[in-house]
Amino acid sequence: MQTTIGLTPSFKTVDSIILLLDDKGTIPPGLFSPAESDFIKKELKAERKTIVINQYKRLIAIYQPAYKKDLNALREACRKAGDGFLGGLNKAKAKRVVVADMAGNHDTALAVAEGLALGNYQFLKYRKERKKEENSLHEIAVYSKGLKAEKVKQLQNTVEAVWACRTLVNEPQSFLTATQLSKEFVKLGKAGGFKVNVLTKGRIKALKMGGLLSVNAGSIEPPTFTIMEYKPRNAKNKKPIVLIGKGVVYDTGGLSLKPTPNSMDYMKSDMAGGAAVACAMYAVAKSKLPVHVVALVPATDNRPSENAYTPGDVVTMMSGHTVEVLNTDAEGRMILADALHYAKKYKPELVLDFATLTGAAAMAIGPYGIVAMGTATEKQRTQLREAGEAVYERLAELPFWDEYDDLIRSDIADMKNIGGPIGGAITAGKFLQRYTDYPWMHFDIAGPSYLHGPSSYRGKGGTGVAVRFLLEFLGGL
Ligand code: BES
Ligand code: ZN
Ligand code: ZN
Repeated sequence: MQTTIGLTPSFKTVDSIILLLDDKGTIPPGLFSPAESDFIKKELKAERKTIVINQYKRLIAIYQPAYKKDLNALREACRKAGDGFLGGLNKAKAKRVVVADMAGNHDTALAVAEGLALGNYQFLKYRKERKKEENSLHEIAVYSKGLKAEKVKQLQNTVEAVWACRTLVNEPQSFLTATQLSKEFVKLGKAGGFKVNVLTKGRIKALKMGGLLSVNAGSIEPPTFTIMEYKPRNAKNKKPIVLIGKGVVYDTGGLSLKPTPNSMDYMKSDMAGGAAVACAMYAVAKSKLPVHVVALVPATDNRPSENAYTPGDVVTMMSGHTVEVLNTDAEGRMILADALHYAKKYKPELVLDFATLTGAAAMAIGPYGIVAMGTATEKQRTQLREAGEAVYERLAELPFWDEYDDLIRSDIADMKNIGGPIGGAITAGKFLQRYTDYPWMHFDIAGPSYLHGPSSYRGKGGTGVAVRFLLEFLGGL
């Protein structure tokens, strides 16, 4: 069940409370016994940042945010604090919690609610005892003077989008085929209010999407290419922003087969980019952001078979370029290239692609941020960087010098699909650049999209990375 976030006009409640103290540590009257008040004062004096009072039927957690921190650090500390209270709340079987902000600080109140809601995510579909295992907490009510209901609604929409993205990433390939993925996008379109058009194999063939078709050649499941669009009347941008996401629903590596441990075993997550852009579309549309956005997701699995594309083969892409395939495991760039070429028809203001593209990106910075590179303008890059800092999905921009182009030169075709041993994330980006003629940024999310251990409100498994980043960026335009 979802966790809903709403606004409440009063923090007086019989339910559990997360009390956000002002910078003086003023304790509101009426909540605590004299003994409890004394205890809280002592703890605050000892600079304890979080204090939990167990009042038999409910918990009151007390947290004093470090208001003097820079805003982005403060918000991240609040998200983590929100997540930190979840264990206690669910253990106490709390159904509802009120986030009571005594400082009139909307940023901290919303961030605590965000951490609570995101951290409360569970993926129980495949558990026999799922009813028993379900968290008790279902409702978060925010009390913060002057906070607009619209802001809370937007947060709710974004959280829903992150949850949906995480579920898509966590779904195994036997359920989430390319066709099923596109069906999920159709559902998101209906629920959020945006247009969805799914191209099936016949159309993909007619369009000569050679990259997508060659990766799909070894599969018994047909590919899909989903086109999503949200175009409100009050859009601020004249030319659309196009989002592209890698939709490899399972990556075995193909004939260049991956090993199993810590590699192929996690490759159901290879559609995390596609899920992120579609789920971001959901929240953009549901929050009615004044921005014209298109999202494209080429989808297939990548498998070895009698008919699979082979190392040494030459493929003609939709753009007319030829590619010498030297490793069938470098399949993401093959399908993205067709989508990047397709995007030209929109004459976009900016194209952003999200892909679990290279192990090299994950090795370079780990799960702590998003590897970025591209040709966007300085102004666009600054806006993107700031959005990343605001949601703590930080960008690590890599160099994108011309020299890296030399590394993907082929003897017989226009390019090859792998570089050499150096700069693996960059040469993948350089490959993609060949299919662009507009301002563009590439985001390699191989590191942060799927976590092997818990990490605060991001959880374990699919993280939904890039959804909050996109909402922050598009919401700020
Ligand atoms: N899907 C993988 C990249 C990946 C690796 C994602 C680890 C998440 C975690 C991608 O298709 C791939 O296999 N890339 C190859 C490229 C190489 C053959 C040039 C890689 O990074 O090893
Ligand atoms: Zn691969
Ligand atoms: Zn892949």
